[in-house]
Order: sequence, then structure tokens, then C-alpha cells
Amino acid sequence: MLQLVIVILFASGSSTVVEKKQLLCRSDDLEILYSSCDHSTKNFSFRVEPCSLKFENKPRWKGFFFWIPRNDITTVFGSVTLWLANRKVLEWTTNLCSGMDDGYSFCGALKGETINTTVNISGDRIDNQVGEYTAIFKAFASPTSKKLLFCMNYTLIKKK
Ligand SMILES: *[C@@H]1O[C@H](CO)[C@@H](O)[C@H](O)[C@H]1NC(C)=O
Ligand SMILES: *[C@@H]1O[C@H](CO)[C@@H](O)[C@H](O)[C@H]1NC(C)=O
Ligand SMILES: *[C@@H]1O[C@H](CO)[C@@H](O)[C@H](O)[C@H]1NC(C)=O
Ligand SMILES: *[C@@H]1O[C@H](CO)[C@@H](O)[C@H](O)[C@H]1NC(C)=O
Repeated sequence: MLQLVIVILFASGSSTVVEKKQLLCRSDDLEILYSSCDHSTKNFSFRVEPCSLKFENKPRWKGFFFWIPRNDITTVFGSVTLWLANRKVLEWTTNLCSGMDDGYSFCGALKGETINTTVNISGDRIDNQVGEYTAIFKAFASPTSKKLLFCMNYTLIKKK
């Protein structure tokens, strides 16, 4: 009986294939590829303009966000984890939607509703190393919830 259980666990374990990444954008200094971390993230897209990390002053991007959620969006916690090779360089969690008076237009969207919006993103001067970064962008309904609303896996290749 125990052996049978082990066989089943192995079988389901080997079926988790890493999805092939698709190209999001490419420029002289940056290339971004993405895939979903799990197979559940459907009807979701996020892209940024410009496709660059080169800025005269503070970096500013326009983010184009498209999503058809499978649940009503009341509270949303987002987290971004950034890795350079195997080293974690950044971990950031934020409350995107708190359930009232939210700044983002997608907060309060209902299940099945189309969210198609642009967001302004700004950052601090980026002075980091050339290399291949992995950014995991996850959203949960609550900080303790294990159920993901979406999870995307981005590869950022910073060129010279
Ligand atoms: C993200 O994608 C990379 C391959 O591009 C893979 O090695 C890594 O395990 C993925 N991470 C997650 C959390 O899916
Ligand atoms: C994606 O959106 C379409 C149209 O609203 C819907 O029929 C489909 O079930 C959605 N897929 C997922 C995985 O949510
Ligand atoms: C999202 O909105 C933009 C402009 O507001 C439009 O060009 C685009 O076609 C929309 N995308 C979808 C999938 O509806
Ligand atoms: C984004 O920034 C532009 C220009 O700075 C501004 O016109 C626009 O209202 C901003 N959009 C949002 C959603 O804050």
C-alpha cells in the first residue's frame, strides 16, 4: 500500500513541467520573457513601455494590464520577488486593493469582468548588474491565503 502511494506521488510530481517562456519585449538594453508559474493564470497579460532600464532621471514606465479574474476582486495582496542567478535581490509585498477607496481602477472588479487598464510605474535609479533576473509576480486574496489569483514568472535580461 505504501509503495503504491509513493508511485502516485512520483507520477504527479513529474507532470509539473516548467512552461516555455514567451517574448514580451526586446530592446538594446533589455529583453523580457514571461510564462505563468502555474497553469492557472489565464486571461492575463502585463507589459511595460518602454522596454528599457535606461533613463535620464527616475525610471517611469507605463504598464498595460489585462485580466479577466475568476473571482470578485475585493482584497488583493501582490508580491514581487526578484532573483539574480540564485540570489534573492528584492522582495516586496503590497496591498493593491483593500476593499475600499482604492487607487487602482481594477479593485472592485467582479468575477468575469474584463480589466483592461494602464498603470504608471516609477522606480528608483537602477544601477544593478548586467545579467539574467527572474521576477515572480504573485497576487493573493489575503496575506495568509495560499490560493493564487495569478502568478507570473518573468525573465529580465539586462544587457550592457
Ligand atoms: C521561473 O522560470 C524559471 C525558468 O525560466 C524556472 O527556473 C523557475 O523555476 C520558475 N519559477 C517559478 C516560481 O515558476
Ligand atoms: C477566460 O475568459 C473567457 C471569457 O470571459 C472565459 O470564458 C474563460 O473561462 C476564461 N478562462 C479562465 C481560465 O478563467
Ligand atoms: C485594451 O484597451 C486598449 C486601449 O484602451 C485597446 O487598444 C485594446 O484592444 C484593449 N484590449 C483588449 C484585449 O480588449
Ligand atoms: C499616468 O501618468 C500620466 C502622465 O504623467 C497621467 O496623465 C495619467 O493620468 C497617469 N495615470 C494614472 C492612472 O495615474
